[in-house]
Amino acid sequence: MPEKYFTYKSLDELRSDCRYYGVDITFEEKLEAVARPVRIGNRTIGNSIGIHPMEGCDGTLDGKPDELTYRRWERFGAGGAKLIWGEATAITPEGLANPRQLLINEANMPHLESLLKRTRAAHREVFGRDDDLLIGLQLTHSGRYSYRRPVITYHHAQADRVTYLDKKSGLTLPRDFPVITDDELERLEDLFVQAIVRVYRLGFDFVDLKQCHTYLLNELLGAHTRNGKYGGSFENRTRFVRNVLQKTRHEIGDSLILASRINAYDGVPYEKDPTTGVGKPIPFETPYPYSFGVDRNDPLREDLTEPIKLVRMLVEHGVKMINVSMGSPYYNMHIGRPFEHAPIDGYIPPEHPLQGIDRHFRITAAIQQAFPDLVVVGTGYSWLRQYLVYAGESNIRRKRVTILATGRGAIAYPDYAKDALRTGKLKSSNVCIAVSHCTNLMRSKNNALGQYPAGCVPRDPIYANVLKESLGRKKNRSPGNA
Ligand SMILES: Cc1cc2nc3c(=O)[nH]c(=O)nc-3n(C[C@H](O)[C@H](O)[C@H](O)COP(=O)(O)O)c2cc1C
Repeated sequence: MPEKYFTYKSLDELRSDCRYYGVDITFEEKLEAVARPVRIGNRTIGNSIGIHPMEGCDGTLDGKPDELTYRRWERFGAGGAKLIWGEATAITPEGLANPRQLLINEANMPHLESLLKRTRAAHREVFGRDDDLLIGLQLTHSGRYSYRRPVITYHHAQADRVTYLDKKSGLTLPRDFPVITDDELERLEDLFVQAIVRVYRLGFDFVDLKQCHTYLLNELLGAHTRNGKYGGSFENRTRFVRNVLQKTRHEIGDSLILASRINAYDGVPYEKDPTTGVGKPIPFETPYPYSFGVDRNDPLREDLTEPIKLVRMLVEHGVKMINVSMGSPYYNMHIGRPFEHAPIDGYIPPEHPLQGIDRHFRITAAIQQAFPDLVVVGTGYSWLRQYLVYAGESNIRRKRVTILATGRGAIAYPDYAKDALRTGKLKSSNVCIAVSHCTNLMRSKNNALGQYPAGCVPRDPIYANVLKESLGRKKNRSPGNA
């Protein structure tokens, strides 16, 4: 594997590497499709560009937005993307991924409302209107990655090896660690519904039931080995989300746009090869009994039969928009976010980033093509730097996705949509270079708050200083969240 992957001086060079790796990543330089409005439920957004949920780990210790949270959201608001997918917000303190994650409860309502209002105001100030802007909030329970204590829905032989009971000592889950009971899951369904009603009362345009990145609801989708009414059959594994959607409609009807970010492919857990530093799958047996969207006879490949069935079920229950993602930020990070340099808890990627992007595009296209009228938001663009918008243009034209969105790309370059639409290109000096410092900051817990804020180190001096400070106090770094 090369030391540096992104060496392209022109789009032609990038195209030639796509041919070399045999990947179906195509580019269109004339930006038209990304400028098109999109109908989502009963609303229309002004362009086809979005911002993925990006946690900043910068809230107060009681889950309210803090100074950097407002700054981040306002920068997104002023950036010109017409779909802003608000970050992972815990529905209960036990489900927090880190001590500074946003938490939705009654006490935090006025603060979350002001976050929303300030983001809208920032948008209006630049664009003169905000009626064509949709802002949503992602609701989550962090499951086995809850920082206070893991909450697992079943024992996963490989994932348990990298699920920490005590992060400082590196103690992982014992075999007899209890799984969450059906009764507790039922209680969590109600907490999700309560949180959705709050999102509606706050005035957000949509809510996302987070079923990705191997957090609680994602893990349930792959709970083949769990006993009882939430495990085993597809019907049982999707019971939680179905119940939440049904109860939600009972509470608020169709008054809030429902969305879900799903893992269409979980993959298998990887570990770092001690001699080469390259990621390799933790040994597993087949048929593989765990996870969602995997081919049970070869879990290194996707099997989209169930993800497509899930999307159909979600649509039947009123979901209007699907954001397709994949992988786990904890145990196979190259799948979810193809990178140039590994984060501190990572490994050298076992594939070229273009192959990871191809997996994103291929799986997302399969879902979009199964549901041509559904709004499908795509992931995996940021590594393409200034060329990402041309890949989005091409995918939209080819009907492989409805909306192009970026995560790391947007914290590096919050106004990437504005520049793309006004000038037809992105500034190479502003784009994400995928060196994983945002994740490194997320993993840094060694300050008084137990969590450093995450942002773009190469492009935003605030975070360059945060990184410096955290490195000055290097001790106590531990595996964390994303
Ligand atoms: C610092 C950081 C925070 C993130 N926060 C969230 C989050 O709150 N919710 C979520 O679904 N994904 C989250 N992600 C994943 C991104 O939304 C996105 O899926 C991933 O970075 C790949 O897309 P990209 O190549 O455009 O960055 C986060 C990723 C990073 C690096």
